[in-house]
Amino acid sequence: MAGIQQLQISSCLRIAQLILLAVLAVRLAEATGNIGVNYGTLGNNLPVPTQVAQLVLSTTIRNVKIYNPDQAIMQAFANTNIKLVVGVPTESIALLATSTAAAQSWLQTNIAAYMPATQVTLLAVGNEIFTNSPNLASQLVPAMTNLHTALVTLKLDTQVKIGTPHNLQILEKSYPPSSGAFRSNITTEVKSLLEFLATTGGPIMVNFYPYFAYSDDPKNVSLGFALFQADAGVTDVNTGLHYNNMLDAQLDAVYSAMERMGYHNIPILISETGWPSGGDPLELAATPANAQTYNLNLIKYVTANKGTPLRPGTMVDAYIFALFNENMKPGSLSERYFGLFNPDKTAVYNLGLVNNTSPPATVVPAPPANIYPPPITVPAPPANVYPPPITVPAPAVYPPPAPAVPAPPPPAPAAYPPPVAVPAPPAPIVLPPPIPVMAPVPPVQSGNSGKTWCVAKAGSSEADVTNALTFACGEGGADCGMIQAGGACYNPNSVVSHASVAFNAYYQKFGRNYWNCYFGGTAVITITDPSFSGCSFH
Ligand SMILES: *[C@@H]1O[C@H](CO)[C@@H](O)[C@H](O)[C@H]1NC(C)=O
Ligand SMILES: *[C@@H]1O[C@H](CO)[C@@H](O)[C@H](O)[C@H]1NC(C)=O
Ligand SMILES: *[C@@H]1O[C@H](CO)[C@@H](O)[C@H](O)[C@H]1NC(C)=O
Repeated sequence: MAGIQQLQISSCLRIAQLILLAVLAVRLAEATGNIGVNYGTLGNNLPVPTQVAQLVLSTTIRNVKIYNPDQAIMQAFANTNIKLVVGVPTESIALLATSTAAAQSWLQTNIAAYMPATQVTLLAVGNEIFTNSPNLASQLVPAMTNLHTALVTLKLDTQVKIGTPHNLQILEKSYPPSSGAFRSNITTEVKSLLEFLATTGGPIMVNFYPYFAYSDDPKNVSLGFALFQADAGVTDVNTGLHYNNMLDAQLDAVYSAMERMGYHNIPILISETGWPSGGDPLELAATPANAQTYNLNLIKYVTANKGTPLRPGTMVDAYIFALFNENMKPGSLSERYFGLFNPDKTAVYNLGLVNNTSPPATVVPAPPANIYPPPITVPAPPANVYPPPITVPAPAVYPPPAPAVPAPPPPAPAAYPPPVAVPAPPAPIVLPPPIPVMAPVPPVQSGNSGKTWCVAKAGSSEADVTNALTFACGEGGADCGMIQAGGACYNPNSVVSHASVAFNAYYQKFGRNYWNCYFGGTAVITITDPSFSGCSFH
């Protein structure tokens, strides 16, 4: 009995999951927020930039962050209507800090020459300088200032803002969120940075990785809190504000740190965030399902524009890390599995971001067969490795050591002055309904009518597949006669083979929506007819 009850409960959960996905897809269709993606290039098997631009165009993403103004990349995004955040290489900071003439000449060659065909909205000067290149810390703001002066001269300063991405380690304290404070060894530099941002209207750019906060301290940090899932959450003892996800807590720690230095109106831009879909066996949370959950919930979070407990209604833009799995990225194995796409342009998992009014650019993916992909042989990174590896985990904000002296609560949100004019955020992404699979609908090709099938995903746990199979043939209402003894698809008599037949029957019956091929992450859409000797997949 207990077993049946469990199966029923698990079936209910599956249904709830499927409904949730469908609801989420509808919500995404109505969304208006600003989601972008980081296009890193530390892979020796990535598509050429023109193909990358086409790939982005096949999605609803219209904001891309690149790590340096590579000529081919700048040209590939010309006339695409895609807005770029362009990295200014760390190696150029010392030169740019010397004079406005140096900055103007750099801008002319690397940025202005491509405009307006290529739309540049923001320069990201260096990457995580205060934590990763402390020797350049004192030159960072002078370089940014010279760039800004040069932009004014070139009359580009209203279109192009200037920022610099930070590791969250710039905070000495991040919990409770209201006690957020910058590291004391960078007080002078941070003060001049905030003054610069407040004057020029640029955002403070911070890379937020709830994944590292979790994986660094899984005993104390709840996975649900990091994944924006239902969780008890935490309450800030100073403000009484309740937090039910880690990103809110991390954002408020940064708002509080700026508040503490007297800056109330500088917007935060999430310059990187993401979750790996694979890693080594100890990186337990690095799974396709968690990566999909994090990024789907992130998109939902950003597009809802609800703001944080400390700053309700305050919008943030977020750039997902990363567009591709990059096989030359140094660091732990998970570093090479942050991508939304494989190098062959197939989706690693579904995110519902396909623009279904544009022609499909790729074929349906085979998602990673293993949760823990086999190690990739990492070639020696190129001399100019950029961006630096994410080696420093973001500080966990949950749960915290209690502060020795509680910081005074920041003023109630309502007390903040109205936001000053900040740079126009990238245009909202208009998501056309209905939301199809991120893995685009396969193109019609000879021998294939454009039909898709749903089969069990290799590498899924047998227990999960069994649960999903029970659901499909039970409450799911799929016709499973073919896999019963004597049925055309009974042999081979294995759970995985039977599940493929049942999943497909369910998927076809409900109209081949991607959310009809989820089954708790154990199923995958294919463009190849899986029929075999006598067993026909309709
Ligand atoms: C400040 O201290 C942190 C932590 O010890 C260190 O990682 C960082 O490099 C230092 N930054 C500077 C600019 O000295
Ligand atoms: C969890 O937090 C407690 C209290 O802050 C600390 O003593 C302990 O070391 C932490 N556990 C781990 C695994 O870090
Ligand atoms: C979708 O694609 C069509 C055709 O290429 C294009 O006109 C439209 O702007 C795209 N929409 C989005 C939101 O990307």
